[in-house]
Amino acid sequence: MSFLRLVYYSRNRLGSDPDTVADQMADILSASIANNRMHGITGAMMVDERWFVQVLEGRTGPVTAAYERIAADPRHSDIVLADQTVVDERRFPYWWMAGAAIEPDMSDLVRRWCEDGEFDPTRMTPRRLVDLTEAVVTAYMSRTPEPPARSHAFANA
Ligand SMILES: Cc1cc2nc3c(=O)[nH]c(=O)nc-3n(C[C@H](O)[C@H](O)[C@H](O)COP(=O)(O)O)c2cc1C
Repeated sequence: MSFLRLVYYSRNRLGSDPDTVADQMADILSASIANNRMHGITGAMMVDERWFVQVLEGRTGPVTAAYERIAADPRHSDIVLADQTVVDERRFPYWWMAGAAIEPDMSDLVRRWCEDGEFDPTRMTPRRLVDLTEAVVTAYMSRTPEPPARSHAFANA
């Protein structure tokens, strides 16, 4: 079976208050998981104070429809479609949508995937965007859980 894997980045418009951002990310993820599950879409996303990066994978029709809906969402702006590729396998088969914030203690990861050690999706290849998204979400998931009110990172499966 073949799937469409779509990667985009956009400007984060969630504001700067960490608790508000955490609440909004929780809202985005719960709506994403409910919808994506219905449409057979899986993927992952990461966020920092400036950017979102999201990977969506599934059948072409549902992925394209989800992307169009997401692109119209005012919680982000300036969406750039970095890549659309037909693939044989999903990269994120277990997550209807997983999400994590890039935290300061993930600077090793950022250094590994970003040319000059600074996260700037405009200067990354689609492949590196997907690799870094996976690394950030996986790093978050392997952490000791924090109480949700204090956690500024998010993950759902
Ligand atoms: C960065 C970002 C990523 C999103 N990702 C998804 C997604 O993967 N799937 C989805 O259905 N909605 C996603 N949304 C939310 C949609 O824009 C939209 O609010 C939602 O699909 C509406 O769902 P509803 O009609 O069930 O309320 C995302 C929003 C943002 C800002």
